[in-house]
Amino acid sequence: MIKKGIILSGGMGTRMSPLTKAVNKQLLPIYDKPLIFYPLSILMLAKIKDILIIVNKGQLSQYKKIIPNGDRLGIKITYKEQNSPKGLPDAFIIGENFIGKENVALILGDNFFYGQFLSKKLLDCTKLKNGAKVLLHRVTNPEKYGVAKVKNKKITLIKEKPKKFFSDLAITGLYFFDNKVIKFAKQLKPSRRNELEITDLLNKYKKINKLTADYIGRGGAWLDTGSLDDFYKTSTFVSAVENRQGFKIACLEEISLLNKWVGKKQIKDSIKFYGNCEYSSYLKKLI
Ligand code: G1P
Repeated sequence: MIKKGIILSGGMGTRMSPLTKAVNKQLLPIYDKPLIFYPLSILMLAKIKDILIIVNKGQLSQYKKIIPNGDRLGIKITYKEQNSPKGLPDAFIIGENFIGKENVALILGDNFFYGQFLSKKLLDCTKLKNGAKVLLHRVTNPEKYGVAKVKNKKITLIKEKPKKFFSDLAITGLYFFDNKVIKFAKQLKPSRRNELEITDLLNKYKKINKLTADYIGRGGAWLDTGSLDDFYKTSTFVSAVENRQGFKIACLEEISLLNKWVGKKQIKDSIKFYGNCEYSSYLKKLI
């Protein structure tokens, strides 16, 4: 069972400058909430309550203003700073003490997932006992991602941002690992772009036959927030779904309430915390 999760929320967001000059990308809005709410909601839907958020050095105070700790959500939030972006596997080196002897999930702070059967899939993934598991999704631009080739339900090839097409299955930014991930991450050498690569880490699991994959599936969405254009497209998607149905995507308090991690009191605390706004009106309706 995986009970711990890491959100890697660093990065300089250079592609979105000047927006990201003063504010971290993951704190910018995807429609009506900061981007960080979305990956956090995914871990909470996976019933993961012990969460480490890794942020850029110097940006901790920004995060603490919006998510001071996990009290109002009935979860435990720990923060750690990353001096400079060194690649995704660095999360397991920074997070070594947090992980301890347990298994762990990693989600990237800028990844957006949505879909009807997602919660069940996430819960299945947290059952991982040993090895590593990735979630794949078909895309039209695989050259922008880590890509996997699958044959007879087995991953036969993994590459980071392949220039030559070999598969349209992108490896999404949500991963599940056993405890060996710390040891494997420490063995990695920086790639040509001078980063530790998640694909190299996954290849270590593939080598020992311990890498498995699942699919988000056609009915699910995995959207990009990499460029400014992608950012607005994802915002539009959230706005369309929320306004049509009247349900919010990634309302953290609602997930906590449904998981029975909090009661009315904490929701009232949240309403006070956010102040008089549309998000608070939504919370009022929940109780
Ligand atoms: C990173 C990973 C890549 C993965 C992607 C998902 O890419 O290196 O394997 O598919 O996240 O968002 P990056 O954000 O570094 O371009």
